[in-house]
Amino acid sequence: MRVLTVCGSLQATSTNRDLLGQVEQRAIARGHQVVAAPGLDALPLFNPDILTTTGEPPAVRAWRENLSEADAVVFASPEYGHSLPGALKNAVDWVIGSGELYRKLVALTASVPHETRGQLGLEALAVTLRAVEGRIAWQAPIARQPGADDAIDALLVALERGQVDD
Ligand SMILES: Cc1cc2nc3c(=O)[nH]c(=O)nc-3n(C[C@H](O)[C@H](O)[C@H](O)COP(=O)(O)O)c2cc1C
Repeated sequence: MRVLTVCGSLQATSTNRDLLGQVEQRAIARGHQVVAAPGLDALPLFNPDILTTTGEPPAVRAWRENLSEADAVVFASPEYGHSLPGALKNAVDWVIGSGELYRKLVALTASVPHETRGQLGLEALAVTLRAVEGRIAWQAPIARQPGADDAIDALLVALERGQVDD
């Protein structure tokens, strides 16, 4: 599979970016191709007027192309205010109309200190992805603790099974 990883955090030092680094390593070890999406702060705030005035910004084109070329997308995102970060919602908004996420196989996770954290952020992301009928193969935070590798492998196995079901 070609797997695109997307980090919902914009922080320079991000636990979710670290988690995606582990996902990327284990995905490569399982024979998958991996592409890490650039930081979501490259995308302007969504406004359909941009498309009819200045045209599609290069960062939006790159985001749409990365999604189109991916067989599966892994989102790792913090929860902010019991929801998903605005930057991630903005990124999804850019492809609601254009369709690159339509029925895409996805995994949703969050790097958390304990499994009880981050659930509401993932639920909010799942609600947004319902707008594009995203096929959610995995939705669970992964705690920063020994044993995280097993959860990462379970996430990848869920995506592999999801692709077989295509
Ligand atoms: C303004 C703010 C709001 C937050 N809101 C929540 C929240 O509602 N629920 C939660 O579990 N964590 C919340 N957090 C904690 C973040 O999800 C946590 O710091 C996360 O690890 C940041 O991800 P990162 O390390 O990838 O940047 C919040 C953090 C900040 C700074």
